[in-house]
Amino acid sequence: MEESTFVHKSVLLYETVGSLNIKPGGLYVDGTLGGGGHAYEVCKRLGSGRLIGIDQDADAIEAAGKRLMPFQDKVTIVRSNYANIKEVLKDLDIEGVDGIYLDLGVSSYQLDTASRGFTYREDAPLDMRMDQRNDVTAAHIINTYSEMELYRIIRDYGEDNFAKNIAKHIVRARGEHPIETTGELAEIIKGAIPARVRATGGHPAKRTFQAIRIECNHELEVLEQSIDTMIDLLNPGGRLSIITFHSLEDRIVKSRFRLNENPCICPPDFPVCVCGRKSKGKVVSRKPILPSDEELEENSRSKSAKLRVFERGEY
Ligand SMILES: C[S@@+](CC[C@H](N)C(=O)[O-])C[C@H]1O[C@@H](n2cnc3c(N)ncnc32)[C@H](O)[C@@H]1O
Repeated sequence: MEESTFVHKSVLLYETVGSLNIKPGGLYVDGTLGGGGHAYEVCKRLGSGRLIGIDQDADAIEAAGKRLMPFQDKVTIVRSNYANIKEVLKDLDIEGVDGIYLDLGVSSYQLDTASRGFTYREDAPLDMRMDQRNDVTAAHIINTYSEMELYRIIRDYGEDNFAKNIAKHIVRARGEHPIETTGELAEIIKGAIPARVRATGGHPAKRTFQAIRIECNHELEVLEQSIDTMIDLLNPGGRLSIITFHSLEDRIVKSRFRLNENPCICPPDFPVCVCGRKSKGKVVSRKPILPSDEELEENSRSKSAKLRVFERGEY
């Protein structure tokens, strides 16, 4: 681990742990272990039970290993993508679990460690990989994607009104020399946003950096593809709890949960279901669970957090 020690304030901590209805003898999976903040609270509630903690980031694995040392007899830590949850559990001879939770996005440690290349606040190589074993860095995306692809990513994943101009400025700048650092990229983005907007909004590079990070780590595809598998891995009554940090993630969770609750595609006027698609359970939280005023005041990172919960029915 470099530079800063692992600092991260867990978001919706007690709401998430509470949502899992933890049984002391149960089996649980943390798919985004990070610094082990949520995991620590889960472990405190376990007796003979066990927690499998997954993270793709080597620094997180090291930090969580230290944090969870008091519970080492109850915890198994695996460096992997949560997209591989089925294989991870199979390797541990586990077929079903009583709860799974995800706390999506990057940790404060990843953001604050300049050399990881996630922050526009300091100058460092443009990296942004959560899993340092992957080949594709943010620099690769910025220097090789077409203007159209960059525009689409910045528009869709960053929801930035100036996406077109930003993509244009990036392509023009890289024509002179490759864009290698977060500082260079932040300056280029600044130049693509009108001065009157720069003066009012947040940091002009915030949305583009979020967009490139999402693309670099395939965050939305991985989430979309993993939810059904996770629900399938739950024992009856088991729960899947997911904390999201922006509308794109929340939309995916909301719609996949709904589809698992009611997958029937028969026309509404059919008297009985003939498509054969059976509900896998129910959405516990019709409305997302949001941080309390107290948490919002204490932790600015919680501002956009939403927790949704799904409960597996009987097979
Ligand atoms: C917000 S932090 C989790 C913090 C943790 N809940 C805590 O309280 O300390 C998100 C973590 O998830 C990891 N992560 C994000 N997407 C992942 C994925 N698809 N597979 C595995 N780990 C992932 C990141 O590397 C990061 O360490």
